[in-house]
Amino acid sequence: MGYTITLIPGDGIGPEVTEATLIVLEATGIDISWDVCESIGAASVASGGSPLPESVLTSIRRNKIALKGPVTTPVGKGFKSVNVQLRQKLDLFANVRPCNTLPGIRTRFENVDLVIFRENTEGLYSGMETYDERLEIADATARVTRQGTERIIRFCFEYARKNHKSQVTLAHKANILKITSGMFLRIGGEIAEEYPEIEFNDRIIDNMCMQLVTRPENYQCIVTTNLFGDILSDLCAGLVGGLGVVAGANIGDDFAVFESVHGSAPDIAGRSVANPMALIRSAEMMMGHLGEATAARSIRQGLIDTLSDERVATPDLGGSASTMEFANAVADRVASLSAVAK
Ligand code: NAI
Ligand code: MG
Repeated sequence: MGYTITLIPGDGIGPEVTEATLIVLEATGIDISWDVCESIGAASVASGGSPLPESVLTSIRRNKIALKGPVTTPVGKGFKSVNVQLRQKLDLFANVRPCNTLPGIRTRFENVDLVIFRENTEGLYSGMETYDERLEIADATARVTRQGTERIIRFCFEYARKNHKSQVTLAHKANILKITSGMFLRIGGEIAEEYPEIEFNDRIIDNMCMQLVTRPENYQCIVTTNLFGDILSDLCAGLVGGLGVVAGANIGDDFAVFESVHGSAPDIAGRSVANPMALIRSAEMMMGHLGEATAARSIRQGLIDTLSDERVATPDLGGSASTMEFANAVADRVASLSAVAK
């Protein structure tokens, strides 16, 4: 049975890492036809369209699933983040970002194995900002709802239960943001009671950061609000090899969009040096989501073999392979692993 999946290559390093990911996916032998959406973000605006064309949303609603490269967001001006809008419009409330050390990648820590669950539709990303030009006063509203909080925390606990994790940590700032963060923490405590076999604890976000850079092995599942989750995921990426290696999934009740944690990396775009691993691992998560466990395993093993046996890696990991050299090496491994698995 074949799949039809929406593909958003994005911009910056997006098209490069997408091309690399497609050859790895092809090597699994899974039959996928791609519904390609090229026009998005600045490219769409330049041709007179909106940053997030309706056709992209229609495609994802039809196919239910998408693989997405990064899309640049103008800083301090211009259009709203297409990435945030996609998550909100499709109600992709759970942003799941596994950060684990892998053989073949040298890091400061050897046994990091944690997953960040970032609330993906509300908090300070609700888009409610105002500016009083005369007084030069700017405000932002962080909306936290019971429904939004319950579903992300429950999602995290369900994941923990399914994946035999013994602990969930909730990161917050309820000492200062007593109402918004306070409610998130309170609801966390309520839901934790439904999962007595899982240890539940909480950390104030600043201490959470310190704990993570000193004792990351003490954490398994971290659930938090939108902005804290954004920041913690880049921090945790740094623990396990950098932004070039960390994958992500945006999951809702009806649709799922798989994308790396990293952005469009304009500083290295167009130079064939970007590490495609993060998007390849997002594709691995997508295979798992589709129930293609063998393909997911082959991709994971193919990456590990390429990094540790062949010692092929992109510059961010200390190697000298180009994006496509690395991807081709992974694809070769994946093809032989997939042939054996058949
Ligand atoms: P970034 O994640 O694009 O880059 C941060 C640093 O990590 C850069 O030095 C970059 O070269 C490096 N890096 C990132 N991915 C890499 C990879 N695959 N291989 C090797 N090195 C890699 O973050 P930055 O620079 O803050 O943001 C750039 C743009 O990306 C902004 O417009 C931002 O809004 C957008 N962005 C988009 C996201 C998305 O589409 N989901 C997520 C994060 C940022
Ligand atoms: Mg981010």
